[in-house]
Amino acid sequence: MVSSSWTRRHVLSLADFTPAEYDTVLQTAASFGEVLTRRTKKVPALQGQVVTTMFFESSTRTRSSFELAAKRLSADILNFAPGTSSLTKGETILDTAKTYLAMGTDMMVIRHKEAGVPQAIAAEMDRLQTNVGVLNAGDGLHEHPSQALLDLFTLCSQLDADHPRLSLLKDKKIAVVGDILHSRVARSNIWSLTASGAEVHLAGPPTLLPKLFADFIHPTADSTLLPPPNPSLPNFPRKLFLHWSLQPALQDADVVMTLRLQKERMTSHLLPSLREYHQQFGITRDRLKLCNPDVKVMHPGPVNRGVEISSDLMDDPDLSLVSQQVTSGVAVRMALLYLMGGGKS
Ligand code: NCD
Repeated sequence: MVSSSWTRRHVLSLADFTPAEYDTVLQTAASFGEVLTRRTKKVPALQGQVVTTMFFESSTRTRSSFELAAKRLSADILNFAPGTSSLTKGETILDTAKTYLAMGTDMMVIRHKEAGVPQAIAAEMDRLQTNVGVLNAGDGLHEHPSQALLDLFTLCSQLDADHPRLSLLKDKKIAVVGDILHSRVARSNIWSLTASGAEVHLAGPPTLLPKLFADFIHPTADSTLLPPPNPSLPNFPRKLFLHWSLQPALQDADVVMTLRLQKERMTSHLLPSLREYHQQFGITRDRLKLCNPDVKVMHPGPVNRGVEISSDLMDDPDLSLVSQQVTSGVAVRMALLYLMGGGKS
């Protein structure tokens, strides 16, 4: 297994991921994907290491997927549940993290509704000169790197299952549709998909896709993004476009990535009604006729059926990659834990 290009202790954001790092994750995940097809779906790679999941926000697939990934790697796993923890007695999050550190945790997988919490814990672990790795499993509106990496793996594996790599997506047209404003999945995906050389077309109502949105990568006049300012990163043009209607994003698209309307994060009335949203931005079979005939549809889940995507389309195995995304999640999270744990073959 290749891990020579891996030097990261923490995975907090994809903003500074290099093409070599993406390829290392993809290739390592492909190897673990093969392990997961065996009768005994387990390897001893992290035997003796402790992985602690700390989810301060609801989750079904991400938390379970990390737990299964850790178990498949033979790690010991602790699942922290905030509602029944000492947080309710006034303990701080940093003290909670230090408690798990004192128990010998090697890796922490953290989700929080506020952006920056995994980063703060990672900084504290570094300040204390520990070797603990922190993985961001979704922080507020900021990033969700493991979801974008599993999306990338799902797409690249469709094109070459044995040798998934970033360059397979070069010049593909990928539409990302829906509540982009509140989506940490979209923010991480923008980094990975634009790094591949794909054309990424964001589409949503103006209230959920303000023009200023492009500025979080780089401010531009025309939405075609310039290379990121970090000089240590490879100098590739990032192709990102914004649309306030569906048609230009879907036209000839190879992939349509739909996003959940994050009603729990909407502080004011940003939409007239869910029915109207579906009429304008819902992905249906009929609308897919605009796309490339081989188009695939994705959704990170959980799905509001009949709102962002029609129910029959979501369940159609010829068009929908939704179940593959969940399956890929275990292999990709195994790859991340393995690499962060200092993976040696
Ligand atoms: C996403 C999340 O939590 O950001 N879900 C996930 O991790 N699969 C997207 C969402 O909640 O809509």
